[in-house]
Amino acid sequence: MSFKDQIDPKKLPQHLAVIMDGNGRWAKQQGKFRTFGHEKGTKAVREITEACAEINIPYLTLYAFSTENWNRPRLEVELLMKLLVSSLKKEIKTLQDNNIKLNAIGNLEALPKKAQRELEEVIDKTKENNRMMLTLALSYGSREEITKTIQEISHKVKNNLISPGDIDEEIIQKHLYTQNLPDVDLLIRTSGEQRISNFLLWQIAYAELYFTDILWPDYTKNHLFEAIVNYQNRERRFGKTSEQLS
Ligand code: IPE
Ligand code: IPE
Ligand code: MG
Repeated sequence: MSFKDQIDPKKLPQHLAVIMDGNGRWAKQQGKFRTFGHEKGTKAVREITEACAEINIPYLTLYAFSTENWNRPRLEVELLMKLLVSSLKKEIKTLQDNNIKLNAIGNLEALPKKAQRELEEVIDKTKENNRMMLTLALSYGSREEITKTIQEISHKVKNNLISPGDIDEEIIQKHLYTQNLPDVDLLIRTSGEQRISNFLLWQIAYAELYFTDILWPDYTKNHLFEAIVNYQNRERRFGKTSEQLS
């Protein structure tokens, strides 16, 4: 039986998040510049997005550029920003054909104006789509997000809109970039690295983690389906005992 046939449609992760890693190493293996790997990586973005829509995962979040990635060589950063603009232009069709709504999280104001405009345009054009929400994490860092959240809540406390004792998990969640998204159920990282790299720290509190050695440009639908089957065979206890769940 193929991995796809083994997927139980009633036990799908509602929110799948992916750390798309390994573009640079993939390119190096071919004796090419790192940027070649980023270009190839966009094909995997399309394939995985379509695969998620196909099996009806409602929320997919892709880590595309971190706050720390600004520290990469200037030319690589410039290429990544150009690639963002060209991919948005090109993939609007994929989004419309698959009824996917685009969303973005992160310090978006740090992006070049051109990328901000393109992003706004695609978000606006796809805002009525309702099969799946694709969220791109761009200039995203979880610590930046939590810091901003604390600043906003502090302002509200100072202006007597909230009292300190009223601050609870729900209020914090409502101030995160991910306020419209449920908690992450499954987090996949490609390329063999086993770390979180400042991605969705609050939101992955109870996520299942899945690491694979496949480099992002080589990541296919079948690899994704394999990860989902693996996820579905785990017991998510949320602190309870196994007996309590059955
Ligand atoms: C992921 O691939 C893409 C981004 C972080 C933008 P990398 O560029 O990190 O590739 P490796 O990890 O160096 O192979
Ligand atoms: C994490 O990958 C960020 C993205 C995939 C966008 P990195 O390649 O930047 O992570 P580290 O620095 O190796 O942890
Ligand atoms: Mg990397």
